[in-house]
Amino acid sequence: MSDALVYCDVSVFYRGGSVAALRGVSLKIAQGERVALMGLNGSGKTTLLSAAAGLLRFTGKIQVCGLALSRATERAVRDKLGFLFGVPDHQILFPNVLDDVAFSLERRGVQRACARERAAVILATLGIGALAQCSPHHLSQGQRQRVALAGALLSEPPLLLLDEPSASLDPVGKEELAALLDQQAASMLIATHDLAFAVRVCHRFVILDRGAVVEDSSDPTAVARYESVKIAAAKKHQADLD
Ligand SMILES: Nc1ncnc2c1ncn2[C@@H]1O[C@H](COP(=O)(O)OP(=O)(O)OP(=O)(O)O)[C@@H](O)[C@H]1O
Ligand SMILES: [Mg+2]
Repeated sequence: MSDALVYCDVSVFYRGGSVAALRGVSLKIAQGERVALMGLNGSGKTTLLSAAAGLLRFTGKIQVCGLALSRATERAVRDKLGFLFGVPDHQILFPNVLDDVAFSLERRGVQRACARERAAVILATLGIGALAQCSPHHLSQGQRQRVALAGALLSEPPLLLLDEPSASLDPVGKEELAALLDQQAASMLIATHDLAFAVRVCHRFVILDRGAVVEDSSDPTAVARYESVKIAAAKKHQADLD
């Protein structure tokens, strides 16, 4: 069985090469694994997810469910994944919640009526069934996050790339999301700053630091230790400036 996601020596440069957002990242996620992607602001988490979704130019190789990502395979690769952007507004396309969520199936060839029926079910599961006929732009941030999630999960893709899925959710919403993710067979790479959520959902913790993997462990205390070291270094830096 092929791995769900493989990065092999992947680098990404922004602004014509002046910003190295990823530096030779190699990482394998086996089928069924749920991996938390952690690290400070600007460490490259969103860039790593976006590269696998075919949204960025990169050097090196990326494989999704055995399919090598290239211009020619971009579409086929995207059909294998559910992607949640950090800013949910970036993936809301329609003026009606139900249509918006159903579209993720319609674009895969599912008939409109059937897509809408399944969309209604997932909205109810996510606790936002009553919002089906609302405009996504009239919802709260957390509600929009749930709409975007519903779209990502609806087609039951084998790989989920989730960028800060718990960021706008209240404690009840976080638990509901964790329980929902528990029910998914999909492999997952989840960028998050929320260690408690990561521990609840994932069993492997990868830390990015300035575009490179510096930790890859099944032990979440490795993340807590890393964060303590970074906080202490920031305090010392501040004290040196004062
Ligand atoms: N479109 C862009 N143009 C130029 N530089 C960018 C762009 N997007 C990201 N970067 C830079 O690439 C690096 C990695 O950014 P990225 O968004 O991947 O970090 P992140 O780990 O997701 O951060 P956060 O925790 O804040 O979401 C940062 O230095 C950032 O400034
Ligand atoms: Mg990010």
